[in-house]
Amino acid sequence: MGLKYLSTVVVLATALTLTAQNLPLRQIPIDQGWLFNPTDDPSFSGIRVDEKNWKPISVEKDWDSQGHKGLIGFAWYRLKFVLPKALRNEDKLKEGMFLVVGKVDDGDQVFLNGEFVGQNGKTFNPGSKPPADFRTGQWQLERIYKLAMNDPRLKWGSENVLAVRVANPSGPGGMYGGGQHIRVVGMSNILDFQAQSAPFTFYGSELVKKFDLLNTSSKFSVQGTLNIDVVGIMSGKKIINNTRTIDIAPGEKMPINVQLGIKDEACKISYHIAFKDGDSYEFKEESPYILTPPVSNMPKINGATTFGARPGKPFMFTVPVSGERPMTITASGLPKSLAINSQTGIITGITPALGTYKILIKATNARGEATRELEIISGDRLALTPPMGWNSWNCWGLSVDEEKVVASARTFVEKGLRDHGWSYINIDDGWEIVGSSPDPKRDSDGNILVNNKFPNMKRLGDRLHDLGLKFGIYSSPGPLTCGGYTGSYEYEQNDANSYAEWGVDYLKYDWCSYGRVAKDSSLAELKKPYEVMRDALGKVNRDIVLSLCQYGMGKVWEWGDSVGGQLWRTTYDITDTWNSMSTIGFSQVENAPFAKPGAWNDPDMLVLGWVGWGPNLHPTRLTPDEQYTHMSLWCLLSAPLLLGCDLTRLDPFTLNLLTNDEVLAINQDKMGRQATQKVIDGSIQVWVKELHDGGKAIGIFNLGETTTEYEVNLESIGIAGNKTIRDIWRQRDLSQLQSKHRTRIAPHGVTLLKVI
Ligand code: GLA
Repeated sequence: MGLKYLSTVVVLATALTLTAQNLPLRQIPIDQGWLFNPTDDPSFSGIRVDEKNWKPISVEKDWDSQGHKGLIGFAWYRLKFVLPKALRNEDKLKEGMFLVVGKVDDGDQVFLNGEFVGQNGKTFNPGSKPPADFRTGQWQLERIYKLAMNDPRLKWGSENVLAVRVANPSGPGGMYGGGQHIRVVGMSNILDFQAQSAPFTFYGSELVKKFDLLNTSSKFSVQGTLNIDVVGIMSGKKIINNTRTIDIAPGEKMPINVQLGIKDEACKISYHIAFKDGDSYEFKEESPYILTPPVSNMPKINGATTFGARPGKPFMFTVPVSGERPMTITASGLPKSLAINSQTGIITGITPALGTYKILIKATNARGEATRELEIISGDRLALTPPMGWNSWNCWGLSVDEEKVVASARTFVEKGLRDHGWSYINIDDGWEIVGSSPDPKRDSDGNILVNNKFPNMKRLGDRLHDLGLKFGIYSSPGPLTCGGYTGSYEYEQNDANSYAEWGVDYLKYDWCSYGRVAKDSSLAELKKPYEVMRDALGKVNRDIVLSLCQYGMGKVWEWGDSVGGQLWRTTYDITDTWNSMSTIGFSQVENAPFAKPGAWNDPDMLVLGWVGWGPNLHPTRLTPDEQYTHMSLWCLLSAPLLLGCDLTRLDPFTLNLLTNDEVLAINQDKMGRQATQKVIDGSIQVWVKELHDGGKAIGIFNLGETTTEYEVNLESIGIAGNKTIRDIWRQRDLSQLQSKHRTRIAPHGVTLLKVI
């Protein structure tokens, strides 16, 4: 032990000396000193511009949070900086340098010393002219432009002027983080460190990760040392620390194998490479750990215990049952107009007359039998529990197509998600004809046309329904969707009719370009487009859930129900970072009293699994503990649970996170209460949700950066009496309830309990 520790110190010390000697100047920050002008003028790209009226701005956060809330259109950023000659001498690989402009919401055009450099992360050759349109949905993308050291646009040893024109068609805008800097291309840039995209696999008692270090250069070897350091997050225990030499020939790769015993905590894994050319690279991640016990082979009826539908409309509900197949699923007490397929558990028919129908579901397989009551409530309200499903946006963005949607639907069935209540398969933006295309957007009767990625919507609807899944779609009340595709403006009834014909069960209706139609931002104008669509949907022979997407404007939670919505987004878009997820999740306070069956606050979709908002996906950047927090919090909040990941790449950890029926039952509780924030104590928050059985779900969250012991005073959060307490993730009863409960919580992690 002592010896190992000593060798680690020596290796690290060597690496540090190397870094200090060989790293005089590889990188210069350009993240301070920016000026901003909220107007648009092509001459702002020039070297000499009168900056008298330009104001300092931070490029760390969007312009909305710096006095320019709601700025839609174009604006400019400018920065003057000196490019030291010494940086040029550091180009040992003769690969040039990166100009990192960071993240831009939504589109950017970059000019250096009056010359166009590139847009939306794509570098153009010197002398190129900027294309006319550079709007994009790629607000997640880090803008990195690559320039040769002798690029004529650079001025070595003197002042350079960098100008960035930003386009923002909707939502928040501007440059917002990503660590703007200039750096020489070094060994770290020719080494493809593939750890991030390699999943951890659970093999018996081992957690294993295999990946390659790939040298992408055809000319240079990559040499240095790799240190891997693994520490348990809760226990603080050092698990691995080893350093090895790397020497990878051009075009070759070196396999790396990280092997840990299965742990009941996440481990922090740091990979640090000190390259021979003085460059360095660091990647940190946390290993997954599974809390939920495996799904039993016995039949178990899961998911919602109530389902709402409108009388006389086509009916479909799939009873979610886990357990070994074959299974027989029967339903006694079904009204005459409904029938169950006993092999699949899919109930179809016509919704009976107004009333509550109590059905007894029975599931039988070779291992045993389970029964449970299901209430079918024929009335006006839909989505009596928060919708659970998948939506294409957080994964595929505008690159979604029919096959991707069908692949997701199949996975719902094959990986058993359907058996735990996951039922909607929703296409987001990108199925319509692009607004800027010369092609017709509608037929001569005004019916919307689809693009060639979705050749036959009716066929798609049928394929989803055959699997016992529901079909969701997306549109905007404006002329264009957020992604620039055709919206429903002035064709609302045509579109509602098309949806009904295709078998659509759910519509996400996204404000976006309606901002140009609305007369003002009065409540009446905010409500209008949703009332129009509610009425159009009311005229078709189908139950279609209406999801309002307008980012919380005008406190939508106060009136979303009255304009026919079953759910409404409460914030701008989520992304897969702790900052985004936790800021959104923990701010759902004021809207809590408005959640009830058929009326849900929507803090946006889940960012679990492989996400990407476009063709290139990556595993969520949330750590395993942050993912437990995300699921726990969304369940406590009675939030719609819409997965936004490539389901075909679901790893065992994510699947486990999504199939804990006790956690899901908190979300699907038929009383429909939203959790409220009971305690804020330093970095600890306690949220409590009341359940229909008289129980309470309690989330104790650690928003801080260190593992923390916390004692919740249960009486002070309204829990008293002789009750039992259960760890919901582990599905394990804890000792008899005391007046205080002590728990140890990982950084950004959660303890989720139920008392009854
Ligand atoms: C908006 C919405 C997203 C998504 C995109 C589609 O940004 O908030 O959820 O629907 O539009 O363009």
